[in-house]
Amino acid sequence: MRFTIGKIQDMKRAGEKITMLTAYDYSTAKIVDGAGVPLILVGDTLGMVMLGYETTVPVTMDEMLHHAKAVVRGTCKSLIIGDMPFMTYQISADEAMRNAARFMQEAGCQAVKLEGGTAVAGTVKRIVDCGIPVMGHIGLTPQSIHQLSGHRVQGKTADSARRLLNDAIALEQAGAFAVVLELVPSPLARIVTARLKVPTIGIGAGPHCDGQVQVIHDMLGLFTDFVPRHAKQYAKLAEAIRSAITDYINETQSGAFPSSEHGSTMDEDLLKDL
Ligand code: KIV
Repeated sequence: MRFTIGKIQDMKRAGEKITMLTAYDYSTAKIVDGAGVPLILVGDTLGMVMLGYETTVPVTMDEMLHHAKAVVRGTCKSLIIGDMPFMTYQISADEAMRNAARFMQEAGCQAVKLEGGTAVAGTVKRIVDCGIPVMGHIGLTPQSIHQLSGHRVQGKTADSARRLLNDAIALEQAGAFAVVLELVPSPLARIVTARLKVPTIGIGAGPHCDGQVQVIHDMLGLFTDFVPRHAKQYAKLAEAIRSAITDYINETQSGAFPSSEHGSTMDEDLLKDL
């Protein structure tokens, strides 16, 4: 049985912190699910960490669905959220509903996430009214990276802080089941978290959010282009992989690999005949 929206919201009421991680493929998702992570986001960060794009902007619906299907196949307990890519929900609410439905029907996700506050609240309501749970995402919204002039902390002025709080309230009123706060000052995240009944999930938003989300490649030390300031590396997998590959090259060259246990033998009489 997978985590449900109701269970996630109960966790906020019970003061139990919510963990969310991204995953983009079958094998990794299976490990994350097995570890007991309640929420898995098939994030459009896959554009950078899986596909080598510079930003999330070029990611398409088809690329998202390809990865979301693999994640769903690898999981049985986590609630899987499909991240709606740039321009799949902004043009019209009808198009947004169609694309949200593709995450549910084609990939088997249980919810979708989209970026923006008051400006997308009407669309969020339409999607939720169709029976599709929506997670909001405000603060730094990476699909607007060019408009925002880079990865900057949001909500630092009185005006922008007020706007961010209003965005969070608009999303809750539209029916969002949770709201991601990305790169928001901790004291502001604390106010938003106290004001909302639905959980806030922070990334670079301090310890007062109801939960935390990390990009799995960042927390495992697997993405080597840069390490965001808000990421904590719990492992150094890139180094471990490089070292394993070096061992493989060396053993192949020396003849230490493969040894007898990695191959098979044949009947001696047959060999003689040959
Ligand atoms: O795409 C993603 O991974 C995200 C998280 C950083 C919240 O949106």
